[in-house]
Amino acid sequence: MKESQLRYSYAKVNLHLHIGGVRPDGFHDLFSLFHLIDLHDDITVLTKDDGSGALSIEGMPFLSAEQNLMGKASRLFLERIHRETDSVHMTIIKRIPVKGGLGGGSSNAATVLLALNDMYGSPLTTDVLLDLAGRIGSDVPFFIHRVPAAVVEGRGEIVRPVPARDDLHALIVIPAGDGISTADAFAAFDRLQNKDISTKSLYKFSTVCHMYMKPVEHWKFSNDFKDVVVKLNEVYRRIYEIGGSERHLYTTVSGSGSSCVFVSDSGPVEINRLDFTEVERTQVININTILLNKA
Ligand code: C5P
Repeated sequence: MKESQLRYSYAKVNLHLHIGGVRPDGFHDLFSLFHLIDLHDDITVLTKDDGSGALSIEGMPFLSAEQNLMGKASRLFLERIHRETDSVHMTIIKRIPVKGGLGGGSSNAATVLLALNDMYGSPLTTDVLLDLAGRIGSDVPFFIHRVPAAVVEGRGEIVRPVPARDDLHALIVIPAGDGISTADAFAAFDRLQNKDISTKSLYKFSTVCHMYMKPVEHWKFSNDFKDVVVKLNEVYRRIYEIGGSERHLYTTVSGSGSSCVFVSDSGPVEINRLDFTEVERTQVININTILLNKA
């Protein structure tokens, strides 16, 4: 029997996200600044050489082990090292909201790959782990690198670490409801896109690093999903409006939604001090956190 230590599986936010053209594989090229936040799920993994090949996950009853990316990660890992008949039991304490654009499922999958690789004595190199990660989902490779911030390009496989600041606070605001699926958001983006708009990123890696070091009120980052999410739900329009009136904050949507992020470099952001009405406050989940400067 092998048992992993408890591992933190951190969430991320996208501070900038540009969507490029559609690639021959049907995915979109991306150019995005990913940043870990201090919000994590807790995962432990237990394996047994019992020949049963059983798979179970405790802590996420709303998703079958087969649908869960943690299950996909463990199956791919065991196949790759020819130990398919080992059984795997995982437990998770889930704090990262599902379908929140915070990378929870991708982070969990990366955590399982890294845990299993440690437990089996590092049979796979980082390059092989990255290959498995890319087969699980576009955001998973970022989490394999275990860096607090990075510019992520291609479908998600090109990860260039960025030195992270230690003075950034964030308030995450998530409209109550079902969340937005990534595939639906990309499809809506394609429908809405004005074909005259260039799919080339205006930013280079150096531009992003330079901008990131500036005071938050001067950040000129953006997220190309903004137009999609404001059409899907009026709450997003309000959130941008409220953020726009707080000049010292940077406001954005993370990933393809549904989380919105208010970033501050002058202390925590309190939801009660933002211009939400009483009713609007009851229509959102809010989480105070910091942007991590080490993984
Ligand atoms: O890779 P992941 O499972 O997160 O992708 C979910 C869906 O989002 C894909 O099936 C695809 O429709 C879309 N997607 C995309 N381009 C990316 C990432 C995701 O079109 N770079």
